[in-house]
Amino acid sequence: PSSSTGKLPALGWNTWNAYRCNISEEKILAAGQQFVDLGLQRAGYEYVNIDDCWSAKSGRDPNTKRIVPDSAKFPNGIDQVASKIHDLGLKIGIYSDAGTKTCAGYPGSLGNEFTDASTFADWGIDYLKYDNCNVPHNWTDKRPPNNDWYYSYSAIRFRQMTAALANQSRPIQYDLCIWGDARVWEWGAKVGHSWRITPDSTPTWDFILDAITTNVDILNRVDFYSHNDMDMMEIGNGKLTLQEERTHFAAWAFMKSPILLGTDLGNLSQVQLGILQNPEILAFHQDAMYGQPAMPFKNAGSLKTSPPEYYSGQSVKGLHVFVINLGDRSSEKSINFTSVPGLGYNSSGLVLVHDMWTGQDIGLYRDSYNFSMEAHDTAAFALHLPSVTFPVQETIRSSSRT
Ligand code: GLA
Repeated sequence: PSSSTGKLPALGWNTWNAYRCNISEEKILAAGQQFVDLGLQRAGYEYVNIDDCWSAKSGRDPNTKRIVPDSAKFPNGIDQVASKIHDLGLKIGIYSDAGTKTCAGYPGSLGNEFTDASTFADWGIDYLKYDNCNVPHNWTDKRPPNNDWYYSYSAIRFRQMTAALANQSRPIQYDLCIWGDARVWEWGAKVGHSWRITPDSTPTWDFILDAITTNVDILNRVDFYSHNDMDMMEIGNGKLTLQEERTHFAAWAFMKSPILLGTDLGNLSQVQLGILQNPEILAFHQDAMYGQPAMPFKNAGSLKTSPPEYYSGQSVKGLHVFVINLGDRSSEKSINFTSVPGLGYNSSGLVLVHDMWTGQDIGLYRDSYNFSMEAHDTAAFALHLPSVTFPVQETIRSSSRT
């Protein structure tokens, strides 16, 4: 445990998109083992998270008042699963709800926050996803005092769990599953480490676009310890194209959303694993020097689209540009260097363009870089103004520019 809990957006896996309520100790331990075997752990994936439906629907233990794990799904308890996940060098997450019942109808934590936080801490839990279903009438939002949503009933319900978690002896990363309600982006940073801004994900291009569009307006709220959660990944589910899967991953990464895989990891293809383990895009997501996401910019000559197509951001490695092709067919794109915020291009020099997907330098370009993109794909570049002088630049250009 370290005090940096929640500084960076979470990287991991969650049971919900893959299994819904059909979960078990076996499936969770298998996912942990696959983190190791498939190289996900080495790539930085850390959290193995249990979503809804892990507890006994019948209610709390009458004596201890604790939520009880479902004994058919978890015959050895959650603590045993947690310690096996820890033995792999990974962390474990669990799920509860700021209402009387979870979204699937299992016991919620409202009014029992301290009991539940201490139960989770005793079990060795490292991450809590806290949902917002089944909220009693007297706890639903009215306009808060001074229109400050930190004092809304929603925020207060989530803050009760913040206080309970803060009282435990182990750090627990805290995700608010509040679907963008109660203007959560205005107060989420004071309450948790990340907050859902989207409805539940589906493996569709429309969902990916909607999540990006929603996030664009509130990206300025994102920094270390404060992350807009665009919901769990659908790579491996449904019928997304390879390009749509690249956009799903890259956009979540450059917007610094938590990235929690949501499929049976054993079914991922090598190509999908390659996307999810791309070292340079993950390095941007997990950059310990710059907490901010890439932001949209107006690229000369580009159309005004929703969501925007061009984004730029800083990492410890330098300046990055991400381009989404919204079009339903392949198309020509052009990055105009003077339009890129932070690049400081002075209209005479050369820019070294580096492809983050392949890890290769593409070459040196003047004024702009033109390239073509497949439908719904995302391109990812690092741009450098080389400080070296000729003839080194000339060598790079003649050897790698086509
Ligand atoms: C809500 C959440 C989902 C999932 C389900 C579980 O719909 O938004 O992410 O946790 O509840 O019931």
